[in-house]
Amino acid sequence: MNTMEIVRSRRSVRSFDGAGLPQAVQEEILQYAQKAENPYGLAIHWQILSAKADRLSSPVITGADTYIAGRMDRVPHAEEAFGFAFEKVVLYAQSKGFGTTWIGGTMNRSAFERAIGLKEGEVMPCVSPLGVPAKKMSLRETMMRKAIKADTRLPFESLFFAGGFETPLSKASAGDLADALEMVRLAPSAVNKQPWRLVIDGSLVHFYEKHDKGYVGADGWDMQKIDLGIALCHYVCGMEEKGKKATLLLQDPGLVPPANTEYIATLSF
Ligand SMILES: Cc1cc2nc3c(=O)[nH]c(=O)nc-3n(C[C@H](O)[C@H](O)[C@H](O)COP(=O)(O)O)c2cc1C
Repeated sequence: MNTMEIVRSRRSVRSFDGAGLPQAVQEEILQYAQKAENPYGLAIHWQILSAKADRLSSPVITGADTYIAGRMDRVPHAEEAFGFAFEKVVLYAQSKGFGTTWIGGTMNRSAFERAIGLKEGEVMPCVSPLGVPAKKMSLRETMMRKAIKADTRLPFESLFFAGGFETPLSKASAGDLADALEMVRLAPSAVNKQPWRLVIDGSLVHFYEKHDKGYVGADGWDMQKIDLGIALCHYVCGMEEKGKKATLLLQDPGLVPPANTEYIATLSF
């Protein structure tokens, strides 16, 4: 499968077959995670956890015992770095036929944090179950997907712009960038809010976050910045497929964004 096929075939899997994930597969995914880089160069400590042994639970997940989780220092850009690296793991698992779901909220968080040995000054942003998808989704999963409208995405022209926010970019006029942009469009995000907005400016792509209410904690932690890390990951993967390597720049180009829209990062090709 190429990256586009992996991205297109991925969905959050919340109902698993109950068979458990062989130890060798757990090891393989863990090793991939440990090697997964992020453009911010921040270190992430990865761990495979067992729901039964570690007394973990998520009210939305059935039939899976294995979870993967990561902890890292709570530093600037931790959200984007984690989003990038964790999504690499999600796509890797998908390429091997295993299901995942990003979980930031619906879990007994303190049990997960205990199991991963979270230390003072660290954060465990999200976890994911790992396993073989069940043949049929649970009723709860089906209803949840409907409520979040998980199978829909915003149109290209609402997300991507040429030169500045006043000029929406259509897929037809995106040329060589169309596939990488489509991969961003199809990415997973918390409550499927799709907060990424991209401005193409020659060889530069500026990433912005369109804030929705309720995602920034009192401590400044911003769940939607994780989504931006996922968008960066999909764009980088899409361009790598075309033989193009990206460099990350943190240099606000000074464009005037719409209300509640924040500059995050630039990729230079
Ligand atoms: C950062 C993040 C946090 C998420 N947290 C949860 C969660 O707590 N519970 C859950 O069931 N799904 C969670 N999701 C999954 C999203 O709801 C899902 O990705 C989105 O609805 C799109 O559906 P899809 O992944 O099937 O394409 C999360 C996704 C992301 C990216």
